[in-house]
Amino acid sequence: MSELAAERIISYIKQNPTATICLAGGYTPIGTYQIFSQKAKESKLDLTGITFVGLDEWVGLNGADKGSCRETLDEYIFRPLHVREDHILFFDGKAANSDKECSRVVEELEQKGGLDFALLGIGLNGHVGFNEPHVPMEQKAHVVTLDDVTRDVSSKYFKEVIKVSQGMTLGMKTILSSDQIVLLASGAEKAEIIAQAVNEKPSPEIPASLLSLNKNFEIILDSEAGRYVESSR
Ligand code: GLP
Repeated sequence: MSELAAERIISYIKQNPTATICLAGGYTPIGTYQIFSQKAKESKLDLTGITFVGLDEWVGLNGADKGSCRETLDEYIFRPLHVREDHILFFDGKAANSDKECSRVVEELEQKGGLDFALLGIGLNGHVGFNEPHVPMEQKAHVVTLDDVTRDVSSKYFKEVIKVSQGMTLGMKTILSSDQIVLLASGAEKAEIIAQAVNEKPSPEIPASLLSLNKNFEIILDSEAGRYVESSR
């Protein structure tokens, strides 16, 4: 899964050297990021025209906090590849005004022409970024009150006890406008939600199911996450 996903990012960048590349936080893509960074270094992949865009962030946290989305990307992509700050567009979860921070990200992203490639994960409740079930489809970036499932899961990212109640996320409108989208899922715990996202009609109840509205959408799974997906699909 990680090898294939890393290949997708590399080939997109080779064909689109000035692309905006949106990357998710979370554990699922870490293997992809390690492989991507290693291969990008080995092949001297030209990243000078690329802008990396953070998909989401916990309100109250930023790159200074272990376990934040930004810190994950710092560790596995930005530091290893020496990505300059002016090539990174990321929510600052510690911004004084969260709504204004979302507007800033939308404006800067639109100045760059929007998203080109998006690498996404899926939450146990089907969320994409922090677009929780029943998300409005017209939003570009917004502050979200986190679902109970997401709050419970959040503790896996933090060594200390950190209570998170809100997130900032790119919205479904912005995500769906990407030129290419790849959704990753691994492990048995994602098998049921992946089956629902794949088998049910696109609906805001399962935000990941909406991704199939994009014409260039692909899901890459490991065998455990794909155990309930019919092989003919
Ligand atoms: C988290 C993040 C998402 C991530 C998803 C899955 O809450 N907000 O960006 O894609 O949930 O995370 P994981 O890959 O750790 O299962």
